[in-house]
Amino acid sequence: MTPRFRKLIIGALCLPLAWPAIAQPVGDPHLNVVPRTEVEAARVARITQPATRFDAPERFEANQGGAGTVRRRDDAQAFSLPQGNLDFEQQGTFAVGNGLFERLWVTAPASTIASDGLGPMFNARSCQDCHIKDGRGHAPAHGDDTALSLVVRLGQPRVPVDDLNRYLGAGPDPVYGHQFSDASIAGIPAEGRVSVDWIDAQVVALAGGQNVALRRPEWTLSDLAYGDLAETTAISPRVAPQMIGLGLIEAIPAADIMAAADPDDADGDGISGRAHIVWSPEYDRPMLGRFGVRATTPTLRQQAADAFNADIGIASPLRPDAAGDCTDAQTLCRTALDGNDAGQGGTEVSGESLDLVTFYSANLAVPKRAGVDTPEVLRGKEMFAQARCAACHTPKFVTHRLVDRPEDSFQLIWPYSDFLLHDMGPGLADDLPAGQATGAEWRTPPLWGLGLTEQVSGHRQFLHDGRARTLTEAILWHGGEGQAARDAFAAMPPVDRDALVAFLESL
Ligand code: HEC
Ligand code: HEC
Repeated sequence: MTPRFRKLIIGALCLPLAWPAIAQPVGDPHLNVVPRTEVEAARVARITQPATRFDAPERFEANQGGAGTVRRRDDAQAFSLPQGNLDFEQQGTFAVGNGLFERLWVTAPASTIASDGLGPMFNARSCQDCHIKDGRGHAPAHGDDTALSLVVRLGQPRVPVDDLNRYLGAGPDPVYGHQFSDASIAGIPAEGRVSVDWIDAQVVALAGGQNVALRRPEWTLSDLAYGDLAETTAISPRVAPQMIGLGLIEAIPAADIMAAADPDDADGDGISGRAHIVWSPEYDRPMLGRFGVRATTPTLRQQAADAFNADIGIASPLRPDAAGDCTDAQTLCRTALDGNDAGQGGTEVSGESLDLVTFYSANLAVPKRAGVDTPEVLRGKEMFAQARCAACHTPKFVTHRLVDRPEDSFQLIWPYSDFLLHDMGPGLADDLPAGQATGAEWRTPPLWGLGLTEQVSGHRQFLHDGRARTLTEAILWHGGEGQAARDAFAAMPPVDRDALVAFLESL
């Protein structure tokens, strides 16, 4: 089945999800917005025009995170700084949020009541265990790795009508739920182990004589403690992404993101791009999904609550089930002691703590660009435009004017993403649809900070599952709507390809 045809079928299955979006404008209910004046809108339109000259950097280009951009540190802390424009009080809030992000949760009941409630099933004991140094996680090197910084989503394409399934966009495996838990508290078996084998996928010959070997993962879930997965259950492994600039992304007007969507490829450029409209349990209405590899999550607060619930097994007001992703078929974990307590407002983590972690997640600064004005980087920027990378990796946005978030308000930012879903072809597909996204569709990831990956994470692993070991490999995996850009890259003279990679390294 061609990806487009499959997209149609899955689109049809998900129609009931799409209806409310048609009935109601999507908007930004999570933001306290001062509407743009006509003059401002015209100014924004002008300043976000694509670059046409490549002999010098554009104005403000080095400060890719707007006014909150911070100095580019040369150590592993480069993603851990607060936005540079936080006031004194906000810096305090950030520090408290940081403590919660790093907190190692323990089994209930514990003397440290505020830190208990871990599990009963979980993947990691803290946010930081996956978002290592506020950067990305990694795929296991080979075989199994005991400390995983990734999650394996499980699901069934048909969406039973129930609020959580509606939000998560896929039905659960009847026994293993929405997520595979490779860890658990004492006395309750974990669901099993995750391992990966790296398979030689293909060798790509680039213009000018260079050959690049690509590897693809073959994932195995083994030692299954609760019997087999349902035959129709699909698995979707994804490595934890980096955490910088997220509050700015949350502050981009939904209308600006949606304006670039071209679901039927009306302009015939081979690139469609769909806005992912998802159901928000937080606001009880359809919203634009912005976060997660398939843009399933509308807000950072929701993302933090989901992570607490499914990844660590911690209940919060937004996801109050203390048993996390434990299903009714798993009786032991259903009856485990939980850490819900009155001191935390009745859940394992209080609404206030959830807000602190959300504030932290929103305010990790984007570092300044490196070498924006060198001839090689400028040439690479030109190649990026010429190969039409920028058709999905949109360089610029201007955030909303916000009443209560001055740090994110009316900033010119350079995330290099359109935050839309694109069909990237069968090579990257995992066949677990989520909401209106097919298993072949991925959200364009922001590229800012890319050049600091190795410095922060000690590795170079790119794409949703960490399969690419270099930026070149990441580009060569682009298929589907990204095929033409990939082919243009492969056909470039080596000196231009090197320049393009140097541009990416400068981000
Ligand atoms: C077990 C590993 C793991 C843990 C623990 C974890 N995360 Fe994540 N996080 C991920 C993965 C994987 C994704 C991508 C999720 C997806 O698309 O389904 C993600 C995505 C995110 C995103 C969205 C980023 C983006 O670019 O869209 C935020 C924000 C986030 N996590 C915050 C948190 C917070 C806060 C915590 C702790 C409460 C946490 N995470 C704990 C693995 C983890
Ligand atoms: C059709 C839209 C589209 C086009 C065109 C496109 N990309 Fe991408 N890009 C994506 C998507 C979607 C992903 C995420 C795929 C995944 O994780 O499986 C991605 C991932 C990447 C990554 C990995 C990022 C990370 O954090 O791991 C890099 C690097 C990248 N693209 C660079 C480029 C370059 C350079 C070009 C032009 C030669 C390009 N892209 C063209 C959509 C696009």
